[in-house]
Amino acid sequence: MFDDISLLPPDPILGLLGRFRADPRDGKIDLGVGVYQDEEGRTPVMRAVQAAESMLLASQTTKTYQGIAGDPEYNERMLAMLLGEGHVALRDSRIRGVQTPGGCGALRIGAEVIRRARPDARVWVSTPTWANHIPLIGGSGLQILEYPYYDPATRGVDFDAMMSALEKVPAGDVVLLHGCCHNPTGADLTLEQWRELTALTLRVGFTPYIDTAYQGLADGVEEDVAGMRHMMSAVPECVLAASCSKNFGIYRERAGGVYFLARDALRAEAVLSNAMSAARQIYSMPPAHGASIVSLILSDAALRADWLTELGDVRSRIAGMRELLASSLEGNAAGTDFSFVTRQKGMFSFLGITPAQVTRLREEFGVYMLDSTRINVAGITPRNIAPLAAALHAVLADTTA
Ligand code: LMR
Repeated sequence: MFDDISLLPPDPILGLLGRFRADPRDGKIDLGVGVYQDEEGRTPVMRAVQAAESMLLASQTTKTYQGIAGDPEYNERMLAMLLGEGHVALRDSRIRGVQTPGGCGALRIGAEVIRRARPDARVWVSTPTWANHIPLIGGSGLQILEYPYYDPATRGVDFDAMMSALEKVPAGDVVLLHGCCHNPTGADLTLEQWRELTALTLRVGFTPYIDTAYQGLADGVEEDVAGMRHMMSAVPECVLAASCSKNFGIYRERAGGVYFLARDALRAEAVLSNAMSAARQIYSMPPAHGASIVSLILSDAALRADWLTELGDVRSRIAGMRELLASSLEGNAAGTDFSFVTRQKGMFSFLGITPAQVTRLREEFGVYMLDSTRINVAGITPRNIAPLAAALHAVLADTTA
């Protein structure tokens, strides 16, 4: 059976985490996988999460199956958080979906349902996009194509190029968008650009597929999804994949959800039945614990307020580290202006250095980032900024790299 099976390369993101963990050097710096770290370089359990877990432990009476769609209350509360109470899609009962094992489960079930609905639909993803989007969505059998997004010259979105490319997408195809905190570039659309994109979506007739994994990590829980909410109030159909890994810090608990906006309530019900059937075929039903935590936090006023406060602290720490990195790199020998880092949103930025510099940073200085030069800004701390800046200054000064 396995005689001819070949050894695959490690995952580009999680494989780097393995290499970082295996590195014995004391001063190593992890700017790789997208996981929040506090000032001490720890990934803490949020206060509200700890409190919710204690309450669940005290009150839980059973571990019986929850059902294919997960906890209905969780799905309801997630939709209210994602879309805002009273959103037209909720009022008209046009949106239904399932709790999933993390954002990855959500993205895959979304793709499976799209393939069932329209097997020849192609999915257009931004250049670049999160490395796992392509295997996760492509693994369902859908063809993946790319549209221009990031402009290395301006370090922002090349909105004109994006709009001209999407203008030519055939009706019935699917366009994958990042709800906020674009992974890997940190370059987001403005609210005005979301409005223009919504108008184009309506004119051209493709279906938006929105991945939102960082709500609350840029400007605020409401602010970050204003563009996506606008789009979902205007378009007839949409797929929305969400993750609670980052904004609740419950990475290993695998809590997410995928929600389908359809033309009417009856169609939404039919789409839901297909999402449930796809989930049953792949993993049967989602794990309960992470979703129970989220549901409790979102339904309890005190827990919710504390979660929002701590999420605000996370956001300010990341923004502070963006400022610190940019100022620490001023006057570098390459003459590069790194102030763009302060304009980007969420956990990530592209440094835009050379592959040789990325390798040298890892091998000589123990600084780990993705080969694409994506850094996790949340891996920077007041303690590691000095060695990090020194390492970056050293490689930027090396004109041979
Ligand atoms: C990342 O982009 O680093 C995170 O979303 C973690 C992952 O699964 O890749």
